[in-house]
Amino acid sequence: MFLKFKKKKKEKPVAQTLIDFPTERFQAGSDVLTLRLATVSDIPGLVAIQEAVYNGYAPWVSRDFYHELTAEKDRLYLVAVKRDQVVAFIALVRREQVPDLHIANIAVLPVWQGRSVGTYLINTAKAVAWEIGLPMLSLEARRSNTGALELYDRLGFFVQDVIERYYVDNKEDAISMVQNLED
Ligand SMILES: CC(C)(COP(=O)(O)OP(=O)(O)OC[C@H]1O[C@@H](n2cnc3c(N)ncnc32)[C@H](O)[C@@H]1OP(=O)(O)O)[C@@H](O)C(=O)NCCC(=O)NCCS
Repeated sequence: MFLKFKKKKKEKPVAQTLIDFPTERFQAGSDVLTLRLATVSDIPGLVAIQEAVYNGYAPWVSRDFYHELTAEKDRLYLVAVKRDQVVAFIALVRREQVPDLHIANIAVLPVWQGRSVGTYLINTAKAVAWEIGLPMLSLEARRSNTGALELYDRLGFFVQDVIERYYVDNKEDAISMVQNLED
């Protein structure tokens, strides 16, 4: 009967060792979205976004997201939210051997695409890299993902390498892109 007075257990957010990211708001077309740290309760939304953008297939399943979101360091997962719905996310990873901030995953729900949400997330990644003193941003994209490749090119990334047959599902090549933030 005292259940309602029980303190709500604080949810474990993404490890914040990369940066103490404060929640912020940004404009997406005529809407305002909230950008905040992802938590484990966002996982169904993260999986749903992937299913929506990859024809029902989620390259990262709940277990993968859980592992990442509870990692102890070097991760920063941000979600863009509208009225409690996760509409986009970006996964940032600091790697051990490479002095860059790696965009491990980024996706925007189809109905929100083309409203600069992806651009905002990548510009946020740039700001984070800058703040933690990493001079480069990097990412990989499928060779067939011409829309995303075009966007990255427009945002200042250049092709560093082609990794043949990188994607296990269809053996597609990955285009590896980087951006030097010191230029
Ligand atoms: C790539 C992605 C994150 C971009 O997000 P976004 O919010 O639509 O990006 P923005 O609105 O900031 O920029 C839009 C630009 O991206 C490019 N673009 C991205 N995806 C595109 C697509 N499927 N078709 C055509 N253009 C695309 C275009 O240059 C577009 O410019 P335009 O609006 O002037 O035509 C989003 O399209 C997405 O989630 N795609 C599916 C998942 C994916 O491919 N992730 C990247 C893996 S490397």
